[in-house]
Amino acid sequence: MLLLNPFFLASTCLVLGAVYVWQCISSPLRKLPGPTLTLFTSWVLKYHEFRANRTRYIHSLHLKYGPVVRIAPNEVSFASLEGVKEIYGSGGSGYDKTEFYDLFMVYGRRTMFSTLNKEDHARRKRILADRYANTNIMKSSSLDGIKERSGRFIERCSRSVGGSIDVFICKVKRRLHDYAFDGVTHHLFHPYGSDSLRDPKDEEVMKQVTFDDSLQNRLVEYYNPTLHELIGNILSVFAKPRETPLADDLVISACQKTGSDQFTLLHRMQDKSYGLDHMDMAAECLDHMAAGIDTTGDALCFLMWKLSQPRSMSVQRRLQQEILANSGMAFDKLPYLDAVVSEGLRCFPAIPMSLPRYVPPGGRTIDGYPIPEKTIVSCQAYSAHRIDQAVFPEPELFNPDRWLEEKGELDRKRLFFAFASGGRGCIGKHLALAEMKTLLIDVYSRYTTLPDGSMTEEDMEISDLLISSQPRAKKCLLRLEPLRGGEMLR
Ligand code: HEM
Ligand SMILES: *[C@@H]1O[C@H](CO)[C@@H](O)[C@H](O)[C@H]1NC(C)=O
Repeated sequence: MLLLNPFFLASTCLVLGAVYVWQCISSPLRKLPGPTLTLFTSWVLKYHEFRANRTRYIHSLHLKYGPVVRIAPNEVSFASLEGVKEIYGSGGSGYDKTEFYDLFMVYGRRTMFSTLNKEDHARRKRILADRYANTNIMKSSSLDGIKERSGRFIERCSRSVGGSIDVFICKVKRRLHDYAFDGVTHHLFHPYGSDSLRDPKDEEVMKQVTFDDSLQNRLVEYYNPTLHELIGNILSVFAKPRETPLADDLVISACQKTGSDQFTLLHRMQDKSYGLDHMDMAAECLDHMAAGIDTTGDALCFLMWKLSQPRSMSVQRRLQQEILANSGMAFDKLPYLDAVVSEGLRCFPAIPMSLPRYVPPGGRTIDGYPIPEKTIVSCQAYSAHRIDQAVFPEPELFNPDRWLEEKGELDRKRLFFAFASGGRGCIGKHLALAEMKTLLIDVYSRYTTLPDGSMTEEDMEISDLLISSQPRAKKCLLRLEPLRGGEMLR
């Protein structure tokens, strides 16, 4: 009877509430900058996550509170060089990943990306790393595939005729994802790579891997696995789960084939001495496919959008001049092109979001603040590329020239976090840069790009996916005008 007594109930609630509040306000994170509410609840953060706006929300907190911000009772975001070095670089590969990465397991297996601790990660990385080394990417068998696909991209765009005779409208985003998909499958399986720029069947596969609207469903899976299991079926009516049957077929059948080229990842993994079974290989391949499409595709898309703006025309001219004056030159020998790509990735790091890690046992001091063990800490490229205005003056301005200045070069490079850093940084970086630069050379040696009249700034605002992001409108229409010799003399 006592349990039903309203007075007893009310006082129990009061006591429990008081204990909770006491725990919160005596938390070691209370001394950190950040909204007071974040001491008590993570609901504000979750709200923004569900609205696909976590990155921008955290950035707004950094703008208000500085490079160190408490964003939830157990979570802190850093946007400083100290933070980057300690969290991602200490001991080589930084702190261990959190269970957030369980969401990236494939076929129930842990891939290199979804391993949580140093040891498991190092074991897998030893097998895969050399296939992504620059020397392997720069082999002609690898580059030829990229060049061929870039040629098909141009072909594909020039066929999508719109408006007047010499103006083409290209659905750049879709085409760039095809390009990135074909590029990465070439590297994974050649000669079994895809041809989505020409074959509609392969394009369907690409769409399945990339047009992923499972964000909300997977957030529920992460925050409340039990609930997700209970109401998964109902939930999937409102928030789609992630399913990729066509892509599964592609990787699983590719992994059973023999005779892939020496430079490919598959060739390496099939080496018996590594003891990987078919499912391990397929999981790893599907993961690299997913990791290589949205990122490279959206980074290129956003960069071409920026280059196409009226205020960027001088940048575009200078890029065209450098490319035409050095035709036949290797893509990695063009300093202005390099600056343009760096600036594109600075303004729009395709993975702009927090990369969550646990503070190791015993706790650590990060950027001057003592942080207890098991706290979730992270940096997000979007903020690391903007907060320190001594390193990146006028951070919202797309200005490739900043990368050509000698002053501050080291700081810029150290704060550049588009590929993350340390031992768990992007393994596909050299492949991604080769793909981006090859395509930009092919486009800007032939065309001037302009935004299509139907596109707005808001269309190109970032919208978060689980870890990468995309333009809010999920499209990017550009006009391609063929270059005429005379223009370049101006
Ligand atoms: C512009 C293009 C790209 C960007 C901006 C990018 C960015 C990143 C970032 C920030 C990480 C660290 C993620 C984390 O710690 O949670 C990462 C990891 C990774 N990326 Fe990329 N990436 C790009 C292209 C690629 C490509 C083309 C591949 C190729 C197959 C690839 C494969 C991977 C893999 C396998 C990892 C996991 C590495 C590890 O855990 O050791 N990425 N990437
Ligand atoms: C995302 O968050 C930022 C900063 O809090 C805000 O200015 C912006 O309006 C938000 N965008 C959307 C679509 O909610």
